[in-house]
Amino acid sequence: MGNNTHRMYRSEFLGEALGFHLASEMTSSREFQYFLEGFKKYAREYGLVDEEDPVLAFFAIHCEVEPMHVATGREIVISYLEKNPGIAPQAMRGAMAFMDGFEHMFSALNRRLADPQSL
Ligand SMILES: [Fe+2]
Repeated sequence: MGNNTHRMYRSEFLGEALGFHLASEMTSSREFQYFLEGFKKYAREYGLVDEEDPVLAFFAIHCEVEPMHVATGREIVISYLEKNPGIAPQAMRGAMAFMDGFEHMFSALNRRLADPQSL
């Protein structure tokens, strides 16, 4: 996922980077809420002091800002599409590249959780 992110932002067409970024913000907006909820619920199991452990500020802040990131990312994509509708296929390829990576990451995580010896 890290390599894909680097490539999308550094060497692909602008539309692909915009689509990749918007997809990442859309998933972040939800996943940080689940992360925070899970870490709070199982604070002791994760080695945290309690559900108000300062370490969780990272996730709490992201829960606050991610909806704005989604809105801004969407505005940027729309703005570019209005100027150059031809980038739409690029933006879709970028978004799907992110989603493919996201699926791969969670598939690997699920395999690891189901069978810690599998990787
Ligand atoms: Fe974000």
